[in-house]
Amino acid sequence: MTAYFTAENSVAAVNARMSDDANPRLREVLDALVRHLHAFTKEIDLTQEEWELAIDFLTRTGKICSDERQEFILLSDVLGLSMLVDAINNPRPEGATESTVLGPFHVVGAPVREMGDRINLDGKGESCLYEGRVLDLEGKPIAGACIDVWSDNAEGFYDVQQPGIQPKWNNRGRFVTGADGRYSFVGIKPVSYPIPDDGPVGKLLEQLGRHPYRPAHMHYMLTASGFRKLVTHTFVGDDAYLASDAVFGVKKSLIARFERLENAATEWRSPFDFVLAPE
Ligand code: BEZ
Ligand code: FE
Repeated sequence: MTAYFTAENSVAAVNARMSDDANPRLREVLDALVRHLHAFTKEIDLTQEEWELAIDFLTRTGKICSDERQEFILLSDVLGLSMLVDAINNPRPEGATESTVLGPFHVVGAPVREMGDRINLDGKGESCLYEGRVLDLEGKPIAGACIDVWSDNAEGFYDVQQPGIQPKWNNRGRFVTGADGRYSFVGIKPVSYPIPDDGPVGKLLEQLGRHPYRPAHMHYMLTASGFRKLVTHTFVGDDAYLASDAVFGVKKSLIARFERLENAATEWRSPFDFVLAPE
């Protein structure tokens, strides 16, 4: 039993204080956290000044959080933690569409629209027909699948970032598949945009010489009874930021085709089939 704290016995001194009655998972997590945190502190020889800077950074990160803004999730995103948690928790069988980050701009309860409807309500941007099928692992269509979609507008902002400027529910909608599993809707060919970078996380990126941009993408959340929920995006293939997404969300399999159309109702067409894994 280590009674007094020294740099050498620091981990044992802290972890020995946990009660045997504490929740076993909490014990496991805290034990590992203290081990890694102390090893990290020793490895980098953390100075008092750097410790104060870190506390100040976390304090500013907390203070900027509100119902509309979650700077801690943004921090998790730019450190690759969100994608790592997603990868660990969402392994998918071969053939199923891969997942990626949810991001902060999903809004529950978007209007349910008819197949083929337009979601870009502000009349800006290059129009694009999105279409494809929702399938199971055997390639059979899934009926009754709900496809919740959202994207930024042509200026790189989500409607919730510009209340009163963009129409409510601009570039959002939900679509429910019929027996053929098909979906289609008209949106815009999305554009790359910076994640919110006017707070401590943005400042950190700047100091690290990292840009805050995400490559252009359309967000999807697919739910269907008997299948695992899929949160994902499709990416525009020629985007300059594909290889340097600020939040590490790009997966090769999610890069979609965007075909230029002539004499058609939309300027672009992007076909993509989603394959859901069983529950
Ligand atoms: C997004 O794609 O909407 C997003 C994801 C992570 C951080 C910020 C934005
Ligand atoms: Fe996004």
